[in-house]
Amino acid sequence: ADNVGIIAMEIYFPQNYVNQTDLEKYDKVSEGKYTVGLGQTNMAFSGDREDIVSMCLSSVRNLMEKYNIDYKQIGRLEVGTETIIDKSKSVKSSLMSLFQEYGNNNIEGIDTVNACYGGTNALFNSVQWIESSYWDGRYALVVTGDIAVYAKGPARPTGGAGVVSLLIGPNADIVMDRGQRGVYMENAYDFYKPDLSSEYPYVDGKLSIECYLRALDKCYAHYIENYEKKTRTTFNLDQFDHVIFHSPYNRLVQKSFGRLYYNEYIRSPNDARFQEFKTNFSTLGLDKESYSNPKLDSVSLKISKQDYISKVSPTTLLSKELGNSYCGSVYSGLLSLITNTNDSLIGKKILVFSYGSGLASSFFSFTIKGNKSLNDIRIKTDIVNRLSKRIKSTPEQFTKVLETRESNNSMKSFVPIDPIDDLSPGTYYICHIDNQKLIRHYQY
Ligand code: ACO
Repeated sequence: ADNVGIIAMEIYFPQNYVNQTDLEKYDKVSEGKYTVGLGQTNMAFSGDREDIVSMCLSSVRNLMEKYNIDYKQIGRLEVGTETIIDKSKSVKSSLMSLFQEYGNNNIEGIDTVNACYGGTNALFNSVQWIESSYWDGRYALVVTGDIAVYAKGPARPTGGAGVVSLLIGPNADIVMDRGQRGVYMENAYDFYKPDLSSEYPYVDGKLSIECYLRALDKCYAHYIENYEKKTRTTFNLDQFDHVIFHSPYNRLVQKSFGRLYYNEYIRSPNDARFQEFKTNFSTLGLDKESYSNPKLDSVSLKISKQDYISKVSPTTLLSKELGNSYCGSVYSGLLSLITNTNDSLIGKKILVFSYGSGLASSFFSFTIKGNKSLNDIRIKTDIVNRLSKRIKSTPEQFTKVLETRESNNSMKSFVPIDPIDDLSPGTYYICHIDNQKLIRHYQY
């Protein structure tokens, strides 16, 4: 099949959020630390009625209904998440309840786990299935996202939640560029979840940023090498109209875009645009000292600022409003771009950097071939309106919700007590848990 890519998109996010300025006051940190220092606006969170299965159910059902897709038309379903509620059973198998109702049990795929990268692996598998001899002519569905929560401390404001569903098929308007990919994988302990009785990760914040930026450099170099080999043309960053980055928090996205310009300077040291890099950092290179170098950061941000506004900023709406949705992050970036662009995107090229700690990462790209799906996605996801209808909670309420999640998590079973009135229409929620068999039951 040709022109394989994204045909339809949907996102589910919780109704409740906490404001980052309120959180700064509550946490007694300096004013601006979360809103300017991290660059975040709000953070989505959910109470005891929602888990990763309920959020994925909501996301898939809303996609199927809004776009009027027949459940029998799905031949592959892959879930990318690191929010684990069962050490054996996949989230995908829970989602089968939607499909078996329509007599469709013939669906390949299961879950992929590696921090924030599972969704990208799921997408790659799905695109490759459609391009392969195993394809049976039906769509693939990629369901990807997480509930990101951190223990009290500096990482807590970088949580978030959301699940994106992507319908993948041939003759798409958002086409994945064939054979053009840059990959970097490494065994690292920057962020991991070794305590199975807790939702919280072990995280070395500074190391995770270093790992992220190293992965960015390496993937970028591999992407360029691949691009030049496949297209027999010289790679030029300016050919890309938009760049989407995995977004733990917005400031890292700003710095990452700046770092691509620093990489470009290293590739072309005599380019006049990069004179300031040459004057100050002619011997620095891409070594460790360059990962947390305030002077380099400030020059990179300055040089890339104008392009950041037009190329990257439109991709950041959802990640600033929801926070880090881990596996959903880059796909919420694509949805933000579609939401924020009213002009035709035909012919535009979009570069994507997906990063999952531990670590797995890739650069890959899309070319926009038509407007129809984009208009459809813009109307059906109705992002701006849905964001405006959310419920603002206080930091005290947010903290209480996390305390409840903590105590529920340390028990085998719990009785959900949060009211269901706050949930938006079309949301699945946990109605009860069978405390003998520990089966969670969901209602719509
Ligand atoms: N006004 C403006 N800026 C401020 C203010 C203020 N009042 N206070 C601090 N800042 C700036 C700092 O200078 C710093 O900027 P810099 O990044 O340019 O150096 C930034 O805000 C953050 O402040 P720090 O003191 O460095 O923050 P802290 O160490 O407390 O925590 C961290 C930040 C490490 C990112 C933490 O939130 C964390 O561990 N998050 C989870 C890990 C993570 O997201 N890693 C990213 C990749 S892995 C992944 O996706 C999970």
